[in-house]
Amino acid sequence: MGQKTNRSAGAYKTLIKKLQDHSAKSAVVGLGYVGLPLSMELAHGGFRVTGFDISESKIKLLNSGRSDIDDVTHDTVQRAVSSGRFKATTDFKQISNMDTVSICVPTPLSKTKDPDVSFILSAVNNVKAYLKRGALVVLESTTYPGTTEDLILPLLQEGGRKVGKDFFLAFSPERVDPGNPRYNTKNTPRVVGGTTAECTKAAKIFYEQTMPNIHTVSSTRAAEMVKLLENTFRSVNIGLVNEVALMCDRLNLDVWEIIDAAATKPFGFMPFYPGPGLGGHCIPIDPHYLSWKLKSLNYYARFIELAGDINSSMPEWVVQRIVSMLNERFAKALNNTHILVLGVSYKPDIKDVRESPSLDVITLLEKMGAKVVYNDPFVQEIALNNANRKSVRLTAALLKKTDLTVILTHHSTYNYQWIVDHSKAVFDTRNATRSVRKNRDKIELL
Ligand SMILES: NC(=O)c1ccc[n+]([C@@H]2O[C@H](COP(=O)([O-])OP(=O)(O)OC[C@H]3O[C@@H](n4cnc5c(N)ncnc54)[C@H](O)[C@@H]3O)[C@@H](O)[C@H]2O)c1
Repeated sequence: MGQKTNRSAGAYKTLIKKLQDHSAKSAVVGLGYVGLPLSMELAHGGFRVTGFDISESKIKLLNSGRSDIDDVTHDTVQRAVSSGRFKATTDFKQISNMDTVSICVPTPLSKTKDPDVSFILSAVNNVKAYLKRGALVVLESTTYPGTTEDLILPLLQEGGRKVGKDFFLAFSPERVDPGNPRYNTKNTPRVVGGTTAECTKAAKIFYEQTMPNIHTVSSTRAAEMVKLLENTFRSVNIGLVNEVALMCDRLNLDVWEIIDAAATKPFGFMPFYPGPGLGGHCIPIDPHYLSWKLKSLNYYARFIELAGDINSSMPEWVVQRIVSMLNERFAKALNNTHILVLGVSYKPDIKDVRESPSLDVITLLEKMGAKVVYNDPFVQEIALNNANRKSVRLTAALLKKTDLTVILTHHSTYNYQWIVDHSKAVFDTRNATRSVRKNRDKIELL
């Protein structure tokens, strides 16, 4: 017994020492928007990092020194690969050499809007088969409170392994905001909660080596809930401001003027802006993880459901406004009208179209007979409704022959004055045309 305790204390000490002197070998499982920047930070901080993914093409791309993520340059990957600090593989046997394993796989919703944790389960099953004694496993994927303890822990303990002795387990939500020029994986404070106090400490020490600001919480459940609070906060506030936009329309008020004025208050108000709906792999999805969990505890998460209803109804509202605009300005029906959509990514200056409301707006417009083309400097091609479409070239001639230009994503690279000057009319769902001075009469705002 005494010998066993000594062995586990030894495993912990060895792990901490390896973390502190950076000799720990780090695995990152899932090399997407979260996993690749994390891999680069760890490699840059002096760890030897092996990235694991199930996509052969991604592994090839990364090993050749190229990146497929906007926030990570080819040069960064190239340097990490050629310095020997980063390599990528699909071979999970290599987990057996790893002292830390960070799991960053997707957590989407199923068709019925329930959490789909199958990616987490598959990753953990692959890891569990080869997990080294004394390794630290950290889940970074966003998920409902209880996932780490109720799903992952039992899997890793199969066969008699014990947490806190044979391996260490923690949850640390990734909070990265792709495209954010100020905050990134490194300088965004980290929240960490472990299964035991030692697990928390080990995870804290791991992140401290490369990130300056770590905040620990009492459990993995608490850490899971922190992330869901953050994203529910955004979803609910965006839902609120979208509803305010609907109210302002009925009151014949300009919602943008109201928000700008309210934002002059230096305390107690934080501006959120309306738009055509929510997009991305986080805000439209994560709150549903929380409400699903609460349903199992007989609690109906009212704010989440209401915000979800309002936000997901925005594409229909956009289409209604387009119908009215065509009717009032040109006595035209939507059927057969030529519409140019500007921006299909879910937010400005990135190429991610996951859950993008632009795709819903295009689908609804086409259902009503509109002839829609799109331009997006960041997204050359999209697959939508069983067809591949290419971004059209944005020219004065195209704008002139189009019945209505609809701004859905406010990329900073667009010249909005030029767009307005050459368009017949513009429906702007983002107030992107706020600096446009000439031809304002052509513009309608959401
Ligand atoms: N994208 C964001 O802005 C963001 C921000 C914070 C948190 N998150 C959360 O982080 C997690 C990952 O999101 P993402 O945007 O990086 O996803 P992503 O789709 O960009 O990347 C996930 C990667 O995991 C790989 N993968 C899938 N199953 C795997 C498996 N079993 N083993 C190994 N690799 C596997 C995929 O091939 C893909 O390369 C999600 O839970 C998400 O909610 C995302």
